Amino acid sequence: MFSHARIEKNSILLTVLTLIVVSIGGLVEIAPLFYLESTIEKVKGMRPYTPLELKGRNIYIREGCYNCHSQMVRSLRDEVERYGHYSLAAESMYDHPFQWGSKRTGPDLARVGGRYSDDWHVAHMNDPRSVVPESIMPGYPFLAETPLRIDQVADHMAANRTVGVPYTDEMIENAQADIKGQLDPFSDEVDGFLERYPNAISRDFDGNPEMVSELDALIAYMQMLGTLVDFDAYKPEENLR
Ligand code: HEC
Repeated sequence: MFSHARIEKNSILLTVLTLIVVSIGGLVEIAPLFYLESTIEKVKGMRPYTPLELKGRNIYIREGCYNCHSQMVRSLRDEVERYGHYSLAAESMYDHPFQWGSKRTGPDLARVGGRYSDDWHVAHMNDPRSVVPESIMPGYPFLAETPLRIDQVADHMAANRTVGVPYTDEMIENAQADIKGQLDPFSDEVDGFLERYPNAISRDFDGNPEMVSELDALIAYMQMLGTLVDFDAYKPEENLR
């Protein structure tokens, strides 16, 4: 019979027994992950980014917006009261790479979609201090004047497909048409676009229908962030499998 005092006095024995106990704990935690199909619960409403939103997301990453903004509402009371429902894993399942982050010089943006008008975003991106006088965010006035490069958007979608985003061949073939459809609700392309991306928004985002600008893409992306899941209808227990 081992008495505990004997184990505590023998460092080698203590190390060996500790290792055994820790590895049992490790196995119990890790082994089930190999049998689960997925650790992300499925929720209604999630869809891949539209080509325009995907371009906007690329601009967000290119401009380093993530250096000051996170995109994950933590499940803490102050966060939920300020930003809305805490973020679900499924909400970033099509993000490659994800934009969760932890640096918050500015507010979290995971649920900024629909919080402000497009006009507000246009003014804010051109000169943040025109709408928030105490803002320390830099302006990005060049985005409104830079035409959006749409020639490689299909390739971006195909690249996302290889890492698991369910873009169909039809979505990839119609990528450029869908950008037109999203920016003009009166265009011929809009019906096909809304069929492929049912809960997407179609309108001119930067207030300048003459040109498809980088700002159009960035605002399209901002305005959909955190809006896909209908939280009035969301019941966590129904999603457990
Ligand atoms: C140097 C840090 C910094 C960078 C870089 C930055 N922001 Fe900000 N952002 C802020 C701060 C601070 C605020 C809060 C004041 C304000 O609204 O301007 C803010 C506010 C915002 C808001 C309003 C959020 C809300 O809920 O009120 C949006 C939208 C936004 N930023 C988008 C962007 C985008 C898009 C980029 C990249 C193109 C970007 N930011 C880059 C610091 C930054």
